[in-house]
Amino acid sequence: MPILEKVTETQVWKSVFRHPMPTDRRNRVVVMLTNFFLHLHPVSVRKQGIALSYTWCMGGTTFFLFLVETVTGVLLMFYYRPTLEHAYNDILALRDVTTLGILRELHRWGAHAMVIAVWLHMYRVFLTGSYKPPREFNWVVGVLLLVMTLLLSFTGYLLPWDQLAIWAVTVGTSLAGYSPFIAKQFNIGLLGGVVVGPETLLRWYVLHVLALPFVLVLFLSVHFWRIRKDGGISGPL
Ligand code: HEM
Repeated sequence: MPILEKVTETQVWKSVFRHPMPTDRRNRVVVMLTNFFLHLHPVSVRKQGIALSYTWCMGGTTFFLFLVETVTGVLLMFYYRPTLEHAYNDILALRDVTTLGILRELHRWGAHAMVIAVWLHMYRVFLTGSYKPPREFNWVVGVLLLVMTLLLSFTGYLLPWDQLAIWAVTVGTSLAGYSPFIAKQFNIGLLGGVVVGPETLLRWYVLHVLALPFVLVLFLSVHFWRIRKDGGISGPL
């Protein structure tokens, strides 16, 4: 008996791979339903739903970029310290001294790309009318994801603690202070004072690496789950 057959006959193998090769429709359905990772996807999808010309794969690209941001971001956390004393120099050192300094560039360019991708994704969903019933709720979840993406971008912008960062955040939050929706008190809480200072750096760091990604992942799970429940990616109009 060839070695491969011997292996596939073992109880261990059979406990992992419970079904025959998915070469026919029935077995493909069974595999989709019983595998943990695959069951997150619909059993079958419309051909159009996976056509690049229809989706532009912009939702997928946004998700991919989010993963890139997560991996590079976690690695950056091993180095960067969010204090007045260290922040700016840590960023310079990341570029000039540290091994794999390219991580910082990947994280920054990835962030720009994610913002562009999420807008293009929203634009595609709008153009194909995919916000219409039954997908209205997923559009609303999408708007939250857009806001989270922009807030991640804005909070991350402060962390290098250079002149551009400090003044961009000063201008941005001053503008927000004039909005009828964001009270001045809230703004002060967000900054940890009346001007951008050390408290702002720490608060925005925590928002950037913890709170905002947590909320984004939560709503992303709802987003993906809804795509499945709404019958997969939309079809022709
Ligand atoms: C972090 C941001 C986001 C990620 C990672 C994401 C991811 C995805 C993915 C992977 C899909 C499957 C189809 C595709 O790739 O086009 C999708 C579909 C969808 N997304 Fe997003 N999305 C995000 C933000 C948004 C935004 C901002 C909106 C709208 C305001 C939105 C609304 C929708 C809707 C309505 C669908 C269903 C489209 C259809 O059935 O054709 N999403 N999303």
